[in-house]
Amino acid sequence: MRLQAENIASQEGKKEILRHQNVALYQGDSANPLLFDAPFIDLIVTSPPYNVGIDYNSNDDDLAYDDYLAFSRQWLANCYAWSNPQARLAMNVPLDKNKGGARSVGSDLTRIAQEVGWKYQFTIVWNEGNISRRTAWGSWMSASAPTVIAPVELIVVLYKEQWKKTNGSRRSDITRDEFMAWTNGLWTFNGESAKRVGHPAPFPKELPYRCIKLFSYVGDVVFDPFVGSGTTLIVAQNLNRVAIGVEIDPTYCEIAKRRILSETDALELINGEAQR
Ligand SMILES: C[S@@+](CC[C@H](N)C(=O)[O-])C[C@H]1O[C@@H](n2cnc3c(N)ncnc32)[C@H](O)[C@@H]1O
Repeated sequence: MRLQAENIASQEGKKEILRHQNVALYQGDSANPLLFDAPFIDLIVTSPPYNVGIDYNSNDDDLAYDDYLAFSRQWLANCYAWSNPQARLAMNVPLDKNKGGARSVGSDLTRIAQEVGWKYQFTIVWNEGNISRRTAWGSWMSASAPTVIAPVELIVVLYKEQWKKTNGSRRSDITRDEFMAWTNGLWTFNGESAKRVGHPAPFPKELPYRCIKLFSYVGDVVFDPFVGSGTTLIVAQNLNRVAIGVEIDPTYCEIAKRRILSETDALELINGEAQR
């Protein structure tokens, strides 16, 4: 299985939490460049911390903005080093934020990704239909200082060296209707309930489901450096990809482990083929 053969040579600074079917979950810090010592990634689907003051257990989500950008630069550079030449990065980030001063988070992270080597391909706008945010008006019915909030997030898509994929199984599992719908870069589906999943900021399975089917072949290695409740790993396993992830917080690792064990159903992959 590719999971054992190629990947996880270095054990530096990470603890194995779970190996199950084609999934490997580690507790560790994705800003640590020593976590992996050789490229293994075909596709990254991830949502990093947004630095919007979410009450995570193990990381401060309220850094000074420059410190947040320095952290972002580090994990983006690490992921670049751990990626195969034709790897892709689908990065779910906010468009912007207002709390603690207006910041163009999406464009800042897109610029930093390119500065560390990632090449820009396109951006998908995810309309998550969250109308509850429409209460911060700034100055009500006045041009004095109105606030405009877009109830959307971005999925910025980048690649390492070459966009055209010539490696891997060459087996796509996307249907005609999915391809037609998802190549329109406005995606509309609801967010996930934090309460239901037991994590403060999960994304819905639909997000990695679309990214994995659109951007990877069956058998590819999908990586999430910010596993949270494990959504990307669950979907990758169920789509017959190899799924590898890192999460810094031990409690979220346990939530992810529990979800992976109860919500995955795909068969084990051997040499890119699903086995009984
Ligand atoms: C936005 S959440 C990811 C949610 C995930 N997509 C899901 O569906 O559950 C970001 C996660 O990154 C984790 N995290 C923060 N800093 C980290 C780091 N340096 N290395 C690894 N994980 C980190 C947080 O604990 C949090 O679980």
